[in-house]
Amino acid sequence: MDIPNRTEVAIIGGGVAGLMLSQLLHIEGITCVILERQTRAYTEGRIRAGVLEYGTVNLMRRIGVSERMDCMGLRHEGFALMDDGEKLRIPLHDLVNTDVMVYGQTEITIDLMDACEARGTPLVFEAKDVALHDFDGAAPYVTYTKDGVTHRLDCDFIAGCDGAHGICRATMPDATAHAVEKVYPFGWLGILVDVPPMDHELIYSNHERGFALASQRSATRSRYYIQCDVSEKIDDWPDDRIWNELEIRLGDTADHRITRGPSLEKSIAPLRSYVCEKMQHGRLFLAGDAAHIVPPTGAKGLNLAASDVSYLADALIAHYRHDDEVGLEGYTKRALDRIWKAERFSWSMTQLTHRFPNMTAFDRQMQKADLSYIRTSAAAQKSIAENYVGLPY
Ligand code: APR
Ligand code: PHB
Repeated sequence: MDIPNRTEVAIIGGGVAGLMLSQLLHIEGITCVILERQTRAYTEGRIRAGVLEYGTVNLMRRIGVSERMDCMGLRHEGFALMDDGEKLRIPLHDLVNTDVMVYGQTEITIDLMDACEARGTPLVFEAKDVALHDFDGAAPYVTYTKDGVTHRLDCDFIAGCDGAHGICRATMPDATAHAVEKVYPFGWLGILVDVPPMDHELIYSNHERGFALASQRSATRSRYYIQCDVSEKIDDWPDDRIWNELEIRLGDTADHRITRGPSLEKSIAPLRSYVCEKMQHGRLFLAGDAAHIVPPTGAKGLNLAASDVSYLADALIAHYRHDDEVGLEGYTKRALDRIWKAERFSWSMTQLTHRFPNMTAFDRQMQKADLSYIRTSAAAQKSIAENYVGLPY
């Protein structure tokens, strides 16, 4: 594919945020080029999240890439909280008349990349040494190296969709001064395995040995997580040790049997909450993990990327179609309102379900009182439900 040296929107990063933004712009006839530093295989192969808010599902349908999702995705009408073996189902559909869709981020990435290919969206893999220029003015440009050759891409806008370790936030003036962060004293060990899920819905378990999550990708593929110390090394966790811990923390019982199998992938990730409250500077805009990180307990990472790019696309479309700058000028304020609510929910779900090091008896009583209140209050359950399925855009 010939890569143009001029486009309307230069998108840095070919993850979910960059791919979704590119297709939201494409269907409106706004040109873009995606610069991705990894290979397609690496990007598609990353094992990430798996729960889609209804807003994300609607976005995939708006883009016109929902066929596989609607075929393979699993509609979930509830999920369970468990505390020391006592289970409480949160009946999402009964409470807020909305479900979530269980469909792996890997699949979404494949769907979006296929759409880019089919629609001719210029997507440059292995774009190295991306650098941003003149985004303070009206004629920004990006330089990058591909196969040893340096290229220049002139554009109207730069969308920083390059994740937590990208170049765009690092280039944003004063970004560090606008960062708010909380680091949690534990990580999650995740395992992907081709065995049937232990239950038809997700289970978030608070156990004296630590948190565990039973999730899934399909009727034959499961995704499990256990809380572990951030200093843990995955090599110290052979599969059997993981299964033993999961059976204890999730309560392996006759009606909810954990099926063991060889891990397809396993890794340990730290947990943190992070927001860069400066999401734009001149013609540079941040979206997705480039601007914020959530602990995965609320399943919000991918879904926040979706709402960010929905707002940014709307603003760019208004600019190009109606010379209307209100959306671009108000992008950060609009995005931050939803981001902080998702950060709060993710933090609260983490507080509710994890055993923190040096937790006092009082702290544990607060967890138990919280769970007891949720168990006995339709209002409390409805609050959890409306946050879990996704607050309105
Ligand atoms: N140049 C070009 N591409 C880059 C650069 C760079 N300097 N730095 C990072 N990238 C690419 C990464 O290789 C990655 O493919 O940007 C992409 C960022 O994608 P993600 O990290 O997936 O972030 P985002 O698209 O915002 O999606 C957020 O993905 O990581 C999960 O938990 C997260 O579910 C959330 C979702
Ligand atoms: C997952 O399936 O990867 C998953 C599901 C729910 C979460 C986090 C991760 O809260």
